[in-house]
Amino acid sequence: MPTDSPGAGEHHQIYGGLREVTDEMERLRASATAEVQRRSHKFWAEFEQKRDPQMLIAWFIPRCWREIDYVFMLGEEIRRYGLSFERRHITALSKQLYQEAEHYESVGRIIERLGGNAPTEPPLSARPWSEFLWQCLDRHRLSAIAAWYMSETAATGTFEGIMDGGRRYELPDVVRTYEGIIKDEKFHLGLGRVIIERYTENADDVEEVMRSLRRMADLVTASHTAIDLYDDRVGG
Ligand SMILES: [Fe+2]
Ligand SMILES: [Fe+2]
Repeated sequence: MPTDSPGAGEHHQIYGGLREVTDEMERLRASATAEVQRRSHKFWAEFEQKRDPQMLIAWFIPRCWREIDYVFMLGEEIRRYGLSFERRHITALSKQLYQEAEHYESVGRIIERLGGNAPTEPPLSARPWSEFLWQCLDRHRLSAIAAWYMSETAATGTFEGIMDGGRRYELPDVVRTYEGIIKDEKFHLGLGRVIIERYTENADDVEEVMRSLRRMADLVTASHTAIDLYDDRVGG
């Protein structure tokens, strides 16, 4: 089924201008992921010292928010630009939307079990990220897709720490939930890449894609936004 493996059956020729920036794209993806992973390890080392459930709640809140923001963003992407894509890609984006809604539900449940409340508005630390994503939607059909492609790439740098933490501190719902999320994220990243490669057709498209990738890489690694850190408003 094409929606289960977005790359299957794709024989589209990749635009030459995009191939020229692939090295930069891969470098950005690797460095953003490594930086997010470094901070994630720092968080868990700090939690090991303090063992404060409030820290965990604050850690999951911006993550939970991003899940529901992806739902909104994907819905808007589909509404605005969906008909310019092949039907199977509308289906695949809709499947991603549904999975992000499931992630919002399950990460929300983790937060509630820890004694907190699932976010219903963007927490402070997720705001620059969220604003950027929504600005991207106004620019170009690939702009927001490239932005979440980078953001979700970098977020994979937190998975190992979350799974280890879930096991070490006996949080079974964290392990179970993130097993599912990790599997779904493979599909989302594959889909993001397929759409970027399939629909980048000229120099302007390359510029928009790279603009989103670069800015999102900056955003997810800049210490003042620190989307990988826990929300200071809740944690402080
Ligand atoms: Fe998700
Ligand atoms: Fe995702």
